[in-house]
Amino acid sequence: MAFKNFPMVPFVVYGRGSFAQLGDIIRPHRQEGKPFIFFVDNCFRDRNDFLGRIPVEGNDEIILVDVNSHEPSTWQVDSYRDYLKEKYGEVSGVAGMGGGAVMDITKAVSLMMTNPGSAADYQGWDLVKNPGIYKVGIPTLSGTGAEVSRTAVLIGPEKKLGLNSDFTPFRQVILDPELIKGVPPLQRFYTGMDNYLHCIESLTGSYMNVFSKAYGEKAFQMCHHVFFEKDVWDEQSDEELMMASWMGGMSIAYSQVGIIHAMGYGLGFALGVRHGEGNSLIFNQLEEFYPEEVAEYRKLLERMEKMYGITLPEGVTADCTEEQFDTMVRVASGMTPLWENALGKDWQKIMTPDRMREIFKRI
Ligand SMILES: [Fe+2]
Repeated sequence: MAFKNFPMVPFVVYGRGSFAQLGDIIRPHRQEGKPFIFFVDNCFRDRNDFLGRIPVEGNDEIILVDVNSHEPSTWQVDSYRDYLKEKYGEVSGVAGMGGGAVMDITKAVSLMMTNPGSAADYQGWDLVKNPGIYKVGIPTLSGTGAEVSRTAVLIGPEKKLGLNSDFTPFRQVILDPELIKGVPPLQRFYTGMDNYLHCIESLTGSYMNVFSKAYGEKAFQMCHHVFFEKDVWDEQSDEELMMASWMGGMSIAYSQVGIIHAMGYGLGFALGVRHGEGNSLIFNQLEEFYPEEVAEYRKLLERMEKMYGITLPEGVTADCTEEQFDTMVRVASGMTPLWENALGKDWQKIMTPDRMREIFKRI
């Protein structure tokens, strides 16, 4: 057996207010005449207090990214690459400021600036041939672990799957807990649950090892503290969630996610359901696989409803056609490592297509 040799983010800054160092950090990476491109979540479009702090110089450009109407896609990445190449030829680097979607788009654009074809050609494991351009990740929403992962998850023409490669991780990450202050409760809940589920899937999977456990247990503990124990959302909550996201990502880097994510990809591809929301919906239907965890999760749902009026949508797949269920099952079934981690090598005997379909139908 070969042990996984995986890359980590080589440079990371942590601290309240550390975002102010961005200009100094990217300066040595600036190349004469080539701009730096800042991909920013569209939710900041009217936030001049934030946009004004981005260290724009010369012909740099801020690109607002719409991640609300759809999940990030290969064609979205291709069109950003085409736009940048046509306008500038080459750019010095890219920085992504937002949640998992903006960070994944930024990582993918970095790779596509130096690799030919479409981002769809690289959906899979270790298909990327050339290192991308310099890239910086700055989370303004914490939970997905995209700031630390070696993937950039995109919806493509055939499937929802990441560009998993040693060239995918950011070269630099800035973790500034001040930036995730004031995220709306629903978004915070779904993204936080993604993090929580990374820990559950990692810690209960057959790929578990002490490396992953060390990160997963701590991430789980912080996430649990924020969602299950804290009555008010405060600065400590932001700090804990930011580090829980990082450590949850580190935990799955050396293990794997499982059933929830595999099925979440199916739901996301077929219906465009957002990652955190889709995973939350699926987890709620998996008590046969995670009895204790789902029981606890339902208590959390009650708590979230009382505190913030958050409820999970119902009947999400009620109007789906049989073809759409076929698609969900096909995309989810393609995630072999995830299934093997959760259910072992014989996973197909346990999770038959009919059984999976029946779970999708309950959502
Ligand atoms: Fe996730």
